[in-house]
Amino acid sequence: MVLGKLVRLRPMDASDADALWRWNHDPEVMRWMQDGYAQPLAQVRKRMEERPRNSYSDLLLGIEVLADNQLIGLVRLGNAEPETGCAELDIYLGEKEYWGRGFATDAMRTVCRYGFEKMRLHKISLTVVTENHAAHHIYQKVGFVDEGRLRKVFRRDGQWYDMFTMGLLEGELQD
Ligand SMILES: CC(C)(COP(=O)(O)OP(=O)(O)OC[C@H]1O[C@@H](n2cnc3c(N)ncnc32)[C@H](O)[C@@H]1OP(=O)(O)O)[C@@H](O)C(=O)NCCC(=O)NCCS
Repeated sequence: MVLGKLVRLRPMDASDADALWRWNHDPEVMRWMQDGYAQPLAQVRKRMEERPRNSYSDLLLGIEVLADNQLIGLVRLGNAEPETGCAELDIYLGEKEYWGRGFATDAMRTVCRYGFEKMRLHKISLTVVTENHAAHHIYQKVGFVDEGRLRKVFRRDGQWYDMFTMGLLEGELQD
C-alpha cells in the first residue's frame, strides 16, 4: 500500500472486477483511452483472477479515496526495466463523480514518487490524446514535459487523433 495526501494506492484483485467492468463500459470514461475494447464481466473476472501478482515490470494499483475508502480508479506503472530505469504510466478514474477533486493529481504524484524512490526509476513516460485537455493539464502540472507528437495514431468514432508523448525525469516531479 502506498499513501498519498488524498488517496491510497493498493494492489487490485478479482473482487475489483465488477468496478473495472462498469468503468470499461462507460463511454465517457473510455473516451480517450487506448484500450476501448470492453470485455464481458466473466472475462474481466477471469483476467483478474489469472493476473500474475504485481512485479517490478508490471505494477497495477487501485486508487482509493482516504476519506471514504471508495475505489475510484487505477494507475499502472508498466514495462519498467531495472537496466534502463524507464517505465510507462497509465491512469484513469472510473468513478466520474470523483472527477475534478484533485484525486488523479495526488495519485500521479504518489505513484511517481514511489517509482523514483522505491523502484529507483530514472524516467517515467506516458502518452495522451492531444484532445484530452484535463489529462494533459494534470500531467504538465506534476512535471511531465511534452517530448513529441505522434500524428493520427488514436482512432475514435471514425476519426484519427494525435497523441503527445510526455516524460518525467527523476528530480522533475512537482509538488
Ligand atoms: C483525466 C482524469 C485522470 C483527471 O482526473 P481528476 O481527478 O478529475 O483530476 P484532478 O481533479 O486531479 O485535476 C483536474 C485538473 O484538470 C483541469 N481540467 C478539467 N477539465 C479541463 C479541460 N477541459 N481543459 C483543461 N484543464 C481541465 C482542472 O481544472 C484541474 O486542474 P487544476 O487542479 O489545476 O484546477 C480523469 O478525468 C479521468 O480518468 N478521465 C477519463 C480517463 C482518462 O482520460 N484518462 C487519462 C488517459 S491518458
